[in-house]
Amino acid sequence: MQVWPSALLLGCIASMQTGAATGAPVADAAPDAGAAVYGKWCSDCHSTAGGPGSMALERKYHGSLPAILNRRSDLSPEYISQVVRHGVSFMPSFRKTEISDAELDRLGTYLTPRSLRNHRRPARATGGE
Ligand code: HEC
Repeated sequence: MQVWPSALLLGCIASMQTGAATGAPVADAAPDAGAAVYGKWCSDCHSTAGGPGSMALERKYHGSLPAILNRRSDLSPEYISQVVRHGVSFMPSFRKTEISDAELDRLGTYLTPRSLRNHRRPARATGGE
């Protein structure tokens, strides 16, 4: 007897949450939130031509890709998380107490072009291209 009312209640809560999310798709709202994370943790090194990140990437790609990180259009969320969590060369890694998983997600959305974002799930399931 108790099963039905609680199942209905859960159903209601679930549909309320889905309903709230449909107005503004998360992927569209996230870039702004991601920009704030980027501004706080990454832009010092990556958003000016003279920043150490920009200089290292300029050297790495010899101008074939933009040295300024948020002008790139080839980065995948998976690659960004990997670099942020583990660091690369003298770029430090960032802990979850600094950049939470949710913030890292938003950062990935901000730095990833829409075209790559759409392939996110298949890419994860098959382990990459
Ligand atoms: C202390 C400076 C510094 C900070 C802060 C920093 N980075 Fe970096 N980052 C670097 C350097 C230097 C490299 C290049 C390493 C190399 O030589 O490959 C790099 C490389 C990268 C790359 C690899 C790009 C490529 O083409 O291989 C990504 C992605 C990246 N950083 C993302 C971030 C993000 C996101 C943040 C903020 C959470 C961040 N970085 C913060 C210095 C920094």
